[in-house]
Amino acid sequence: MLIKSSWIKKIIFLILIVLIILLLYKGLSLRTVTPTNGTYDEQVTQNAERMLREGKETFRFATFGDEEFWGKTLRLHEAIKGSKLGGVGPGLSPKAALSLGLKVDSEALPSSLIEELKEGQVDLSDPATTIELLKLNAVVGIKGFFDNSEQLRSVGIECALCHSTVDNSLGEGIGRRLDGWANRDLNVGAIIALAPNLKPFSDLLGVEEQTVRNVLLSWGPGKFDAELILDGKAFRPDGKSAATLIPPAFGLAGVNLHTWTGFGSIPYWNAFVAVLEMHGKGRFFDPRLNDPIQYPIAAQNGLWNVINEPDLVSPKLPALHFYQLALPAPKPPKGSYDQEAAQLGKIVFNSKARCNKCHVPPTFSEPGYNMHKPKEIGIDSFQADRSPEKRYRTSPLKGLWTHQKGGFYHDGRFATLIEVVNHYDRVLELNLSEQEKRDLVEYLKSL
Ligand code: HEC
Ligand code: HEC
Repeated sequence: MLIKSSWIKKIIFLILIVLIILLLYKGLSLRTVTPTNGTYDEQVTQNAERMLREGKETFRFATFGDEEFWGKTLRLHEAIKGSKLGGVGPGLSPKAALSLGLKVDSEALPSSLIEELKEGQVDLSDPATTIELLKLNAVVGIKGFFDNSEQLRSVGIECALCHSTVDNSLGEGIGRRLDGWANRDLNVGAIIALAPNLKPFSDLLGVEEQTVRNVLLSWGPGKFDAELILDGKAFRPDGKSAATLIPPAFGLAGVNLHTWTGFGSIPYWNAFVAVLEMHGKGRFFDPRLNDPIQYPIAAQNGLWNVINEPDLVSPKLPALHFYQLALPAPKPPKGSYDQEAAQLGKIVFNSKARCNKCHVPPTFSEPGYNMHKPKEIGIDSFQADRSPEKRYRTSPLKGLWTHQKGGFYHDGRFATLIEVVNHYDRVLELNLSEQEKRDLVEYLKSL
């Protein structure tokens, strides 16, 4: 017995020595991987990590100083507070906010509040709860600004407002952030229409405030009209709203031109949106918009050459771009499509239906000039004509399953994927059988 236990002690001692050596070695090697002044290769890695970190912060939390517009000028925060808390109107309860498609970031909530939420003890009909959520920085895409006595004094908006949603893990509209996913529940127009003061829009567009409100309310969930402030066109010739769907901001690496109508690159559009749409303080330059025929409002108001000092946008563009490129298109959940049919559909996509002529894997857009005249895809030119290119951009197709709400194509004119396929079958005279069409749809759902 005695001999045995002293052997065991020796073995344990040896194991401990080996463990200590391993730990020391690991510590040393970690240090050599992240030096402060390494080789150029190492600087590249550090740069990538920094850009990812900073870009994520910007995507989620930067307002670029736009609270001066949404808060100070439009007084949107007063509509959120409601008259009981010193604002105007009934106020925005969490229930109302969720029904407008706003999302709550569960990771910003303290665990005590999560427990209360789970037990239904949080008053979701009281605007004061919304203010508390803003204080916790838990409302995705909206930042509250508070004064010394903790009163909401302004709000600003962030990229995440339209281009993020949550995984609903704590309930409808409450969960972990999903950056880059299009928020197709969000009623942007109805949210802006809550603002007590819409005079800046009515001045810009040269119409009554009530008209502005009517236009905003015509957009509906998942849509926004980025071109309205350029050309003043609120409705299409057929009388329907001119707003377009919010596209996803993931799966864009390797894609050349962006937006439904290919206005420019990602950093082009990021600057456009941050300065012209969000009303952040920055610089934006595009002489193509100085065209009194195509863009009467932009030309008249100098929107093609905006200069703000200090510039809170330009310094953030490089990392923001980098972060967006890093957002992968999410894979469809198992069981959300028929795998066998998808495999057959892939063959149809790449042969008989010739979809890959334009949707080239892996980006599913063309390498190079990824733009097409409206008649090439058999649709009207209204939205294309609102862009400098007068064309439609080949949509990247990965992650289609995440944005089926609101439909497909820039204005959601096709409610379902089978409608999209039927459209191509008709205008491109593909002669697809019903089986081939169904397989194609399963393939699209699998991307
Ligand atoms: C109010 C909603 C809203 C906000 C806020 C918003 N976007 Fe967008 N975004 C849109 C819409 C709508 C489009 C489509 C515009 C078009 O095609 O005319 C778009 C298009 C894009 C695209 C092009 C996607 C593609 O498929 O090529 C990118 C990239 C993008 N936005 C990034 C951003 C960034 C970065 C921010 C913050 C600086 C931002 N957006 C803020 C609604 C929004
Ligand atoms: C001539 C080039 C071209 C061909 C061929 C083509 N597409 Fe497209 N596709 C486009 C363009 C451009 C758009 C964007 C339309 C818009 O913005 O309204 C688009 C959009 C789509 C969309 C909607 C994406 C979204 O986010 O709403 C789907 C789905 C799609 N195509 C599938 C297909 C399938 C399936 C085929 C083969 C049957 C095909 N496409 C063939 C150019 C093409």
